[in-house]
Amino acid sequence: MASGTGSLLESLLARSDQQHSPFEVTAIVVDRDCRAADIARDRAIPLLDCRVSEFADRAAWDTALAERVAGFDPEWVVTAGFMKILGPAFLSRFGGRIVNSHPALLPSFPGPHGVADALAHGVKVTGTTVHLVDDGVDTGPILAQEPVAVTPDDTEDTLHERIKAVERVLLADVVTALVTKGVVIDGRKADIP
Ligand code: GAR
Repeated sequence: MASGTGSLLESLLARSDQQHSPFEVTAIVVDRDCRAADIARDRAIPLLDCRVSEFADRAAWDTALAERVAGFDPEWVVTAGFMKILGPAFLSRFGGRIVNSHPALLPSFPGPHGVADALAHGVKVTGTTVHLVDDGVDTGPILAQEPVAVTPDDTEDTLHERIKAVERVLLADVVTALVTKGVVIDGRKADIP
């Protein structure tokens, strides 16, 4: 599921293209016009375009999204730059099987502006977090994290680009590990055995 340039999606697709990959991307879900949708069309991967504006309200969108994604029968759902909060209908259907990549070291700097917020706060180290999605905003159990140093001349764009370089590898690594080994949850702790 993606809303943006889809570089995390491309990383997952590159990994799934490798010989003996344990996973495949069965569908790409977008909520707007974006490059991620072009990637789906270029590669002839089933594309679901499901926009909030086409529904009476968020709840109706969430219910339809859950229904339509279920039609692809995914084992895991990956939000890779999907800039919408998933609602109760979606979570009740796929809870525990949704993975998100966030461009900051959670629990610091959750939300849609993780890179800008970390920069504004003056941190010297930020990074990326891959986590399971729960009903909060970027609050679910953490699967993996990698740090990225902030440099004095960083802008949001330069820092985000360095974070994304790390994210692309980490997300593909985590998805590979999840589909082969699963995950053990103990309260807030998530371990891939
Ligand atoms: C990534 O940095 C991802 O963590 C972030 O959007 C970017 C997507 O990049 N997601 C969020 O901020 C969600 N809160 P991409 O479009 O190049 O894959």
